[in-house]
Amino acid sequence: MLSVFGRCNQSLLPKINLLSRQTLRIIENQPKTRFFTNNSNGWNNLTTKYRQNLFKKNSTVTLNVAAHASNQSKKQVGYWLTICGGMVFGAVVLGGVTRLTKSGLSMVTWTLFGEKLPRSEAEWLEEFERYKQFPEYQIMNRDITLTEFKWIWYMEYIHRTWGRVLGAVYAIPATVFWARGMLDRAMKIRVLCFGGLIGLQGLMGWYMVKSGLEDRFQGEMDVPRVSQYRLAAHLSMAFILYSLFITTALEQLLPAQAGVAKVARGFKALAHTTKGFVFLTAVSGAFVAGIEAGLVYNSFPKMADKWIPDDILAFTPTIRNFTENPTTTQFDHRILGITTLSLVSAVWLWSRRQKLPPRAHLAANAMAAMAYFQVTMGISTLLYYVPVWLAACHQSGSLMLLSTALWLTHELKRVPK
Ligand code: HEM
Repeated sequence: MLSVFGRCNQSLLPKINLLSRQTLRIIENQPKTRFFTNNSNGWNNLTTKYRQNLFKKNSTVTLNVAAHASNQSKKQVGYWLTICGGMVFGAVVLGGVTRLTKSGLSMVTWTLFGEKLPRSEAEWLEEFERYKQFPEYQIMNRDITLTEFKWIWYMEYIHRTWGRVLGAVYAIPATVFWARGMLDRAMKIRVLCFGGLIGLQGLMGWYMVKSGLEDRFQGEMDVPRVSQYRLAAHLSMAFILYSLFITTALEQLLPAQAGVAKVARGFKALAHTTKGFVFLTAVSGAFVAGIEAGLVYNSFPKMADKWIPDDILAFTPTIRNFTENPTTTQFDHRILGITTLSLVSAVWLWSRRQKLPPRAHLAANAMAAMAYFQVTMGISTLLYYVPVWLAACHQSGSLMLLSTALWLTHELKRVPK
Protein backbone atom coordinates (compact mmCIF):
# COMPACT_ATOMS: atom_id res chain seq x y z
CA MET A 1 0.00 0.00 0.00
CA LEU A 2 2.85 2.37 0.75
CA SER A 3 4.01 2.33 -2.84
CA VAL A 4 1.01 4.47 -3.71
CA PHE A 5 2.87 7.45 -2.37
CA GLY A 6 5.87 6.85 -4.60
CA ARG A 7 5.40 9.92 -6.69
CA CYS A 8 4.17 12.22 -3.99
CA ASN A 9 6.03 14.87 -2.17
CA GLN A 10 7.41 13.33 1.01
CA SER A 11 5.85 16.05 3.16
CA LEU A 12 2.51 14.55 2.20
CA LEU A 13 3.08 11.23 3.91
CA PRO A 14 2.06 12.11 7.47
CA LYS A 15 -1.25 13.53 6.28
CA ILE A 16 -1.89 10.69 3.89
CA ASN A 17 -1.33 8.22 6.69
CA LEU A 18 -4.33 9.71 8.43
CA LEU A 19 -6.54 8.39 5.68
CA SER A 20 -8.08 5.00 6.08
CA ARG A 21 -6.90 2.06 4.04
CA GLN A 22 -10.30 1.90 2.45
CA THR A 23 -10.19 5.53 1.31
CA LEU A 24 -6.79 4.90 -0.24
CA ARG A 25 -8.18 2.03 -2.18
CA ILE A 26 -11.00 4.25 -3.38
CA ILE A 27 -8.44 6.84 -4.48
CA GLU A 28 -6.67 4.20 -6.49
CA ASN A 29 -9.89 3.28 -8.22
CA GLN A 30 -10.68 6.83 -9.27
CA PRO A 31 -9.24 7.58 -12.73
CA LYS A 32 -8.24 11.10 -11.80
CA THR A 33 -6.37 10.12 -8.69
CA ARG A 34 -4.25 7.32 -10.08
CA PHE A 35 -1.27 9.61 -9.63
CA PHE A 36 -0.88 8.04 -6.23
CA THR A 37 0.39 4.86 -7.80
CA ASN A 38 3.81 4.13 -9.20
CA ASN A 39 2.14 3.27 -12.46
CA SER A 40 3.37 5.71 -15.10
CA ASN A 41 0.11 5.49 -17.05
CA GLY A 42 -1.69 6.69 -13.99
CA TRP A 43 0.73 9.53 -13.69
CA ASN A 44 0.24 10.43 -17.37
CA ASN A 45 -3.52 10.49 -16.91
CA LEU A 46 -3.15 13.30 -14.46
CA THR A 47 -3.90 16.77 -15.72
CA THR A 48 -1.08 19.30 -15.62
CA LYS A 49 -3.01 21.34 -13.12
CA TYR A 50 -3.19 18.40 -10.75
CA ARG A 51 0.52 17.66 -11.15
CA GLN A 52 1.44 21.25 -10.38
CA ASN A 53 -0.88 21.36 -7.42
CA LEU A 54 0.52 18.14 -6.12
CA PHE A 55 3.94 19.65 -5.75
CA LYS A 56 2.91 23.18 -4.78
CA LYS A 57 0.02 22.80 -2.32
CA ASN A 58 0.03 19.07 -2.55
CA SER A 59 -1.37 18.13 0.81
CA THR A 60 -4.54 20.19 0.52
CA VAL A 61 -5.28 19.09 -3.00
CA THR A 62 -4.72 15.46 -2.23
CA LEU A 63 -6.84 15.39 0.86
CA ASN A 64 -9.67 17.14 -0.94
CA VAL A 65 -9.52 14.59 -3.71
CA ALA A 66 -9.65 11.83 -1.12
CA ALA A 67 -12.71 13.31 0.53
CA HIS A 68 -14.36 13.69 -2.87
CA ALA A 69 -13.64 10.08 -3.76
CA SER A 70 -15.06 8.75 -0.54
CA ASN A 71 -18.17 10.96 -0.88
CA GLN A 72 -18.70 9.57 -4.35
CA SER A 73 -18.62 6.01 -3.05
CA LYS A 74 -20.97 6.87 -0.20
CA LYS A 75 -23.43 8.30 -2.69
CA GLN A 76 -23.24 5.24 -4.93
CA VAL A 77 -23.81 2.93 -1.98
CA GLY A 78 -26.64 5.19 -0.76
CA TYR A 79 -28.44 5.16 -4.13
CA TRP A 80 -28.07 1.40 -4.35
CA LEU A 81 -29.60 0.93 -0.88
CA THR A 82 -32.43 3.33 -1.75
CA ILE A 83 -33.24 1.22 -4.82
CA CYS A 84 -33.20 -1.93 -2.66
CA GLY A 85 -35.53 -0.23 -0.15
CA GLY A 86 -37.80 0.79 -3.03
CA MET A 87 -37.85 -2.80 -4.22
CA VAL A 88 -38.82 -4.03 -0.74
CA PHE A 89 -41.66 -1.48 -0.84
CA GLY A 90 -42.72 -2.90 -4.21
CA ALA A 91 -42.57 -6.44 -2.84
CA VAL A 92 -44.84 -5.48 0.07
CA VAL A 93 -47.38 -3.92 -2.29
CA LEU A 94 -47.29 -6.95 -4.59
CA GLY A 95 -47.57 -9.29 -1.60
CA GLY A 96 -50.58 -7.36 -0.31
CA VAL A 97 -52.35 -7.47 -3.67
CA THR A 98 -51.51 -11.18 -3.98
CA ARG A 99 -53.14 -11.84 -0.61
CA LEU A 100 -56.13 -9.58 -1.21
CA THR A 101 -56.88 -11.21 -4.58
CA LYS A 102 -56.50 -14.61 -2.92
CA SER A 103 -53.72 -15.60 -5.29
CA GLY A 104 -51.06 -16.64 -2.80
CA LEU A 105 -51.86 -20.35 -2.66
CA SER A 106 -51.94 -20.93 -6.41
CA MET A 107 -48.31 -22.07 -6.70
CA VAL A 108 -47.94 -25.20 -4.65
CA THR A 109 -44.21 -25.80 -5.13
CA TRP A 110 -41.13 -23.72 -4.37
CA THR A 111 -37.47 -23.83 -5.39
CA LEU A 112 -34.72 -21.43 -4.40
CA PHE A 113 -33.93 -20.16 -7.89
CA GLY A 114 -37.39 -19.99 -9.35
CA GLU A 115 -40.26 -22.10 -10.56
CA LYS A 116 -40.70 -22.97 -14.21
CA LEU A 117 -43.19 -20.86 -16.11
CA PRO A 118 -45.63 -23.25 -17.89
CA ARG A 119 -45.11 -22.82 -21.65
CA SER A 120 -47.71 -25.05 -23.27
CA GLU A 121 -51.35 -25.78 -22.53
CA ALA A 122 -50.30 -29.25 -21.35
CA GLU A 123 -47.91 -27.74 -18.83
CA TRP A 124 -50.63 -25.40 -17.58
CA LEU A 125 -53.01 -28.32 -17.13
CA GLU A 126 -50.31 -30.16 -15.19
CA GLU A 127 -49.87 -27.15 -12.90
CA PHE A 128 -53.65 -26.85 -12.50
CA GLU A 129 -53.85 -30.52 -11.52
CA ARG A 130 -51.24 -29.97 -8.84
CA TYR A 131 -53.27 -27.04 -7.46
CA LYS A 132 -56.36 -29.27 -7.32
CA GLN A 133 -54.67 -31.48 -4.72
CA PHE A 134 -54.72 -28.72 -2.11
CA PRO A 135 -57.39 -27.38 0.30
CA GLU A 136 -57.95 -24.01 -1.38
CA TYR A 137 -59.25 -25.68 -4.54
CA GLN A 138 -61.04 -28.48 -2.72
CA ILE A 139 -62.89 -26.28 -0.24
CA MET A 140 -63.28 -22.90 -1.96
CA ASN A 141 -62.38 -22.97 -5.63
CA ARG A 142 -63.99 -26.04 -7.17
CA ASP A 143 -65.57 -23.95 -9.93
CA ILE A 144 -62.40 -22.08 -10.91
CA THR A 145 -61.58 -22.18 -14.65
CA LEU A 146 -58.11 -22.65 -16.13
CA THR A 147 -58.10 -19.01 -17.28
CA GLU A 148 -58.91 -17.82 -13.76
CA PHE A 149 -56.28 -20.13 -12.35
CA LYS A 150 -53.67 -18.69 -14.73
CA TRP A 151 -54.49 -15.21 -13.44
CA ILE A 152 -53.95 -16.02 -9.75
CA TRP A 153 -50.90 -18.09 -10.64
CA TYR A 154 -49.28 -15.14 -12.46
CA MET A 155 -49.98 -12.87 -9.46
CA GLU A 156 -48.02 -15.14 -7.16
CA TYR A 157 -45.35 -15.71 -9.82
CA ILE A 158 -44.76 -11.96 -10.19
CA HIS A 159 -44.45 -11.57 -6.41
CA ARG A 160 -41.91 -14.39 -6.16
CA THR A 161 -39.95 -13.21 -9.20
CA TRP A 162 -39.83 -9.68 -7.80
CA GLY A 163 -38.28 -11.09 -4.62
CA ARG A 164 -35.62 -12.93 -6.61
CA VAL A 165 -34.83 -9.87 -8.74
CA LEU A 166 -34.45 -7.93 -5.50
CA GLY A 167 -31.93 -10.56 -4.37
CA ALA A 168 -29.90 -9.99 -7.56
CA VAL A 169 -30.18 -6.18 -7.41
CA TYR A 170 -28.81 -6.48 -3.90
CA ALA A 171 -26.12 -9.11 -4.35
CA ILE A 172 -24.46 -8.00 -7.61
CA PRO A 173 -23.66 -4.39 -6.63
CA ALA A 174 -22.76 -5.58 -3.10
CA THR A 175 -20.08 -7.83 -4.59
CA VAL A 176 -18.77 -5.06 -6.85
CA PHE A 177 -18.63 -2.46 -4.05
CA TRP A 178 -16.94 -4.96 -1.77
CA ALA A 179 -14.33 -5.90 -4.39
CA ARG A 180 -13.57 -2.25 -5.11
CA GLY A 181 -12.97 -1.54 -1.43
CA MET A 182 -15.85 0.91 -1.26
CA LEU A 183 -17.27 -0.57 1.94
CA ASP A 184 -15.74 0.00 5.36
CA ARG A 185 -15.78 -2.69 8.02
CA ALA A 186 -19.08 -1.63 9.59
CA MET A 187 -20.74 -1.47 6.19
CA LYS A 188 -19.43 -4.91 5.26
CA ILE A 189 -21.07 -6.38 8.36
CA ARG A 190 -24.33 -4.64 7.48
CA VAL A 191 -24.14 -5.83 3.87
CA LEU A 192 -23.78 -9.43 5.07
CA CYS A 193 -26.66 -9.10 7.55
CA PHE A 194 -28.99 -7.48 5.00
CA GLY A 195 -28.16 -10.22 2.49
CA GLY A 196 -28.93 -12.86 5.11
CA LEU A 197 -32.24 -11.17 5.89
CA ILE A 198 -33.25 -11.13 2.22
CA GLY A 199 -32.59 -14.88 2.00
CA LEU A 200 -34.48 -15.48 5.23
CA GLN A 201 -37.41 -13.44 3.95
CA GLY A 202 -37.67 -15.70 0.89
CA LEU A 203 -37.66 -18.80 3.10
CA MET A 204 -40.21 -17.20 5.43
CA GLY A 205 -42.45 -16.54 2.42
CA TRP A 206 -42.48 -20.21 1.51
CA TYR A 207 -42.91 -21.28 5.15
CA MET A 208 -45.97 -19.00 5.21
CA VAL A 209 -47.43 -20.37 1.96
CA LYS A 210 -46.93 -23.94 3.22
CA SER A 211 -49.23 -23.23 6.16
CA GLY A 212 -52.05 -22.60 3.69
CA LEU A 213 -51.39 -25.85 1.81
CA GLU A 214 -51.57 -28.11 4.85
CA ASP A 215 -54.54 -30.35 5.42
CA ARG A 216 -55.75 -28.57 8.56
CA PHE A 217 -59.01 -26.93 7.50
CA GLN A 218 -61.43 -29.56 8.77
CA GLY A 219 -64.05 -27.41 10.54
CA GLU A 220 -67.20 -26.29 8.74
CA MET A 221 -66.27 -22.63 9.05
CA ASP A 222 -62.60 -23.10 8.21
CA VAL A 223 -61.29 -21.02 5.33
CA PRO A 224 -58.05 -22.21 3.72
CA ARG A 225 -55.53 -19.43 4.22
CA VAL A 226 -52.01 -18.96 5.50
CA SER A 227 -51.28 -18.78 9.21
CA GLN A 228 -51.73 -15.23 10.50
CA TYR A 229 -48.62 -15.71 12.67
CA ARG A 230 -46.46 -16.47 9.65
CA LEU A 231 -48.10 -13.69 7.64
CA ALA A 232 -47.31 -11.23 10.44
CA ALA A 233 -43.72 -12.52 10.64
CA HIS A 234 -43.29 -12.20 6.85
CA LEU A 235 -44.69 -8.65 6.86
CA SER A 236 -42.68 -7.61 9.93
CA MET A 237 -39.46 -8.87 8.37
CA ALA A 238 -40.22 -6.90 5.23
CA PHE A 239 -40.77 -3.77 7.33
CA ILE A 240 -37.51 -4.37 9.22
CA LEU A 241 -35.57 -4.91 5.99
CA TYR A 242 -37.10 -1.77 4.51
CA SER A 243 -36.21 0.26 7.61
CA LEU A 244 -32.62 -1.00 7.56
CA PHE A 245 -32.19 -0.14 3.88
CA ILE A 246 -33.71 3.31 4.24
CA THR A 247 -31.86 4.33 7.42
CA THR A 248 -28.53 3.17 6.01
CA ALA A 249 -29.22 4.94 2.71
CA LEU A 250 -30.10 8.14 4.58
CA GLU A 251 -26.82 7.92 6.49
CA GLN A 252 -24.96 7.78 3.19
CA LEU A 253 -26.96 10.38 1.29
CA LEU A 254 -28.20 13.02 3.72
CA PRO A 255 -25.38 14.46 5.81
CA ALA A 256 -25.98 16.65 8.84
CA GLN A 257 -27.60 20.03 8.49
CA ALA A 258 -25.51 22.64 10.22
CA GLY A 259 -26.50 25.47 12.53
CA VAL A 260 -28.93 23.80 14.89
CA ALA A 261 -29.43 24.53 18.56
CA LYS A 262 -30.24 21.92 21.20
CA VAL A 263 -33.10 19.54 20.65
CA ALA A 264 -34.88 18.35 23.80
CA ARG A 265 -34.03 14.74 24.63
CA GLY A 266 -37.67 14.13 25.42
CA PHE A 267 -38.58 15.17 21.90
CA LYS A 268 -36.15 12.69 20.39
CA ALA A 269 -37.45 9.96 22.70
CA LEU A 270 -41.03 10.75 21.67
CA ALA A 271 -40.10 10.62 17.99
CA HIS A 272 -38.48 7.20 18.48
CA THR A 273 -41.45 5.91 20.49
CA THR A 274 -43.80 7.07 17.72
CA LYS A 275 -41.72 5.19 15.16
CA GLY A 276 -42.02 2.06 17.33
CA PHE A 277 -45.80 2.49 17.51
CA VAL A 278 -46.07 2.83 13.73
CA PHE A 279 -44.29 -0.51 13.46
CA LEU A 280 -46.46 -2.15 16.15
CA THR A 281 -49.66 -0.90 14.52
CA ALA A 282 -48.53 -2.30 11.19
CA VAL A 283 -47.81 -5.72 12.75
CA SER A 284 -51.25 -5.72 14.38
CA GLY A 285 -52.69 -4.80 10.95
CA ALA A 286 -51.12 -7.97 9.55
CA PHE A 287 -53.13 -9.98 12.09
CA VAL A 288 -56.31 -8.14 11.03
CA ALA A 289 -55.54 -8.96 7.41
CA GLY A 290 -54.45 -12.53 8.23
CA ILE A 291 -57.80 -13.56 9.73
CA GLU A 292 -59.88 -11.18 7.61
CA ALA A 293 -60.96 -9.28 10.70
CA GLY A 294 -61.76 -6.26 8.53
CA LEU A 295 -64.99 -8.00 7.54
CA VAL A 296 -66.56 -7.79 11.01
CA TYR A 297 -67.82 -4.70 12.86
CA ASN A 298 -67.76 -2.42 9.82
CA SER A 299 -68.60 0.72 11.75
CA PHE A 300 -66.52 3.46 13.34
CA PRO A 301 -65.86 4.71 16.02
CA LYS A 302 -68.17 2.26 17.79
CA MET A 303 -68.20 -1.46 17.09
CA ALA A 304 -71.90 -2.23 16.49
CA ASP A 305 -73.13 0.48 18.88
CA LYS A 306 -70.68 -0.53 21.58
CA TRP A 307 -67.31 0.90 22.52
CA ILE A 308 -66.23 -2.55 23.68
CA PRO A 309 -68.00 -5.42 21.88
CA ASP A 310 -69.39 -8.34 23.87
CA ASP A 311 -67.37 -11.06 22.16
CA ILE A 312 -64.04 -9.37 22.73
CA LEU A 313 -62.82 -12.18 25.00
CA ALA A 314 -64.92 -15.01 23.60
CA PHE A 315 -62.01 -17.42 23.03
CA THR A 316 -60.29 -19.46 25.71
CA PRO A 317 -57.60 -19.29 26.87
CA THR A 318 -57.84 -15.46 26.90
CA ILE A 319 -54.47 -14.97 25.26
CA ARG A 320 -55.78 -16.55 22.03
CA ASN A 321 -58.16 -13.64 21.54
CA PHE A 322 -55.37 -11.22 20.70
CA THR A 323 -54.26 -13.13 17.63
CA GLU A 324 -57.17 -15.39 16.71
CA ASN A 325 -60.41 -13.60 17.58
CA PRO A 326 -61.32 -11.19 14.72
CA THR A 327 -63.14 -8.85 17.13
CA THR A 328 -60.16 -8.49 19.46
CA THR A 329 -57.56 -8.16 16.69
CA GLN A 330 -59.58 -5.43 15.04
CA PHE A 331 -60.20 -3.71 18.38
CA ASP A 332 -56.45 -3.76 19.14
CA HIS A 333 -55.61 -2.42 15.70
CA ARG A 334 -58.06 0.47 16.16
CA ILE A 335 -56.59 1.33 19.58
CA LEU A 336 -53.01 1.12 18.29
CA GLY A 337 -53.88 3.16 15.18
CA ILE A 338 -55.47 5.94 17.25
CA THR A 339 -52.61 5.87 19.79
CA THR A 340 -50.10 6.20 16.94
CA LEU A 341 -52.09 9.11 15.52
CA SER A 342 -52.08 10.83 18.93
CA LEU A 343 -48.32 10.31 19.29
CA VAL A 344 -47.68 11.68 15.80
CA SER A 345 -49.83 14.72 16.63
CA ALA A 346 -47.85 15.28 19.85
CA VAL A 347 -44.56 15.09 17.93
CA TRP A 348 -45.85 17.56 15.40
CA LEU A 349 -47.12 20.03 18.02
CA TRP A 350 -43.87 19.82 19.96
CA SER A 351 -41.82 20.20 16.77
CA ARG A 352 -43.44 23.61 16.23
CA ARG A 353 -41.80 24.83 19.43
CA GLN A 354 -38.38 23.27 18.77
CA LYS A 355 -35.53 24.87 16.91
CA LEU A 356 -35.03 22.10 14.41
CA PRO A 357 -33.15 22.03 11.11
CA PRO A 358 -35.47 22.78 8.17
CA ARG A 359 -35.42 19.17 6.99
CA ALA A 360 -36.48 17.87 10.41
CA HIS A 361 -39.46 20.26 10.37
CA LEU A 362 -40.33 19.00 6.92
CA ALA A 363 -40.11 15.39 8.12
CA ALA A 364 -42.37 16.12 11.13
CA ASN A 365 -44.93 17.78 8.82
CA ALA A 366 -44.78 14.89 6.35
CA MET A 367 -45.23 12.35 9.17
CA ALA A 368 -48.29 14.18 10.53
CA ALA A 369 -49.91 14.49 7.10
CA MET A 370 -49.25 10.83 6.34
CA ALA A 371 -50.62 9.63 9.70
CA TYR A 372 -53.96 11.43 9.20
CA PHE A 373 -54.19 10.10 5.66
CA GLN A 374 -53.36 6.57 6.82
CA VAL A 375 -56.00 6.55 9.56
CA THR A 376 -58.57 7.92 7.11
CA MET A 377 -57.71 5.12 4.69
CA GLY A 378 -57.92 2.53 7.52
CA ILE A 379 -61.38 3.70 8.56
CA SER A 380 -62.57 3.77 4.94
CA THR A 381 -61.20 0.26 4.35
CA LEU A 382 -63.32 -0.91 7.25
CA LEU A 383 -66.47 1.00 6.33
CA TYR A 384 -66.37 -0.18 2.70
CA TYR A 385 -65.78 -3.87 3.57
CA VAL A 386 -62.12 -4.07 2.50
CA PRO A 387 -62.07 -3.28 -1.23
CA VAL A 388 -58.83 -4.62 -2.72
CA TRP A 389 -57.51 -1.30 -4.01
CA LEU A 390 -58.21 0.56 -0.75
CA ALA A 391 -56.77 -2.17 1.46
CA ALA A 392 -53.65 -2.23 -0.76
CA CYS A 393 -53.33 1.57 -0.44
CA HIS A 394 -53.76 1.31 3.34
CA GLN A 395 -50.97 -1.25 3.45
CA SER A 396 -48.61 0.91 1.32
CA GLY A 397 -49.61 3.91 3.46
CA SER A 398 -48.21 2.16 6.52
CA LEU A 399 -44.80 1.89 4.82
CA MET A 400 -44.96 5.52 3.77
CA LEU A 401 -45.79 6.55 7.32
CA LEU A 402 -42.91 4.45 8.58
CA SER A 403 -40.63 6.15 6.02
CA THR A 404 -41.49 9.60 7.35
CA ALA A 405 -40.86 8.42 10.94
CA LEU A 406 -37.49 6.97 9.90
CA TRP A 407 -36.63 10.20 8.14
CA LEU A 408 -37.52 12.32 11.19
CA THR A 409 -35.50 10.22 13.64
CA HIS A 410 -32.60 10.29 11.17
CA GLU A 411 -32.66 14.07 11.04
CA LEU A 412 -32.75 14.26 14.82
CA LYS A 413 -29.84 11.85 15.18
CA ARG A 414 -27.79 14.10 13.01
CA VAL A 415 -28.54 17.34 14.76
CA PRO A 416 -25.18 18.66 16.09
CA LYS A 417 -25.24 19.29 19.83
C1 HEM B 1 -51.25 4.52 12.08
C2 HEM B 1 -52.29 3.86 11.79
C3 HEM B 1 -52.37 2.56 11.04
C4 HEM B 1 -51.39 1.76 10.48
C5 HEM B 1 -49.89 2.00 10.45
C6 HEM B 1 -52.05 0.62 9.89
C7 HEM B 1 -51.42 -0.44 9.23
C8 HEM B 1 -52.04 -1.54 8.72
C9 HEM B 1 -51.38 -2.64 8.07
C10 HEM B 1 -49.90 -2.78 7.83
C11 HEM B 1 -52.32 -3.55 7.72
C12 HEM B 1 -52.06 -4.89 7.03
C13 HEM B 1 -52.38 -4.82 5.58
C14 HEM B 1 -52.08 -6.08 4.86
O1 HEM B 1 -51.24 -6.89 5.26
O2 HEM B 1 -52.67 -6.26 3.79
C15 HEM B 1 -53.59 -3.00 8.12
C16 HEM B 1 -54.80 -3.64 7.91
C17 HEM B 1 -56.01 -3.09 8.22
N1 HEM B 1 -56.24 -1.89 8.88
FE1 HEM B 1 -54.85 -0.57 9.50
N2 HEM B 1 -53.42 0.75 10.11
C18 HEM B 1 -53.64 1.90 10.83
C19 HEM B 1 -54.83 2.37 11.27
C20 HEM B 1 -56.05 1.78 11.05
C21 HEM B 1 -57.35 2.26 11.54
C22 HEM B 1 -57.55 3.45 12.45
C23 HEM B 1 -58.28 1.40 11.04
C24 HEM B 1 -59.77 1.40 11.22
C25 HEM B 1 -60.38 1.69 12.26
C26 HEM B 1 -57.61 0.38 10.27
C27 HEM B 1 -58.24 -0.66 9.61
C28 HEM B 1 -57.59 -1.72 9.00
C29 HEM B 1 -58.27 -2.84 8.39
C30 HEM B 1 -59.76 -3.05 8.28
C31 HEM B 1 -57.27 -3.69 7.90
C32 HEM B 1 -57.47 -5.04 7.17
C33 HEM B 1 -57.34 -4.83 5.69
C34 HEM B 1 -57.16 -6.14 4.94
O3 HEM B 1 -57.82 -7.12 5.23
O4 HEM B 1 -56.31 -6.14 4.05
N3 HEM B 1 -56.27 0.65 10.29
N4 HEM B 1 -53.41 -1.79 8.73
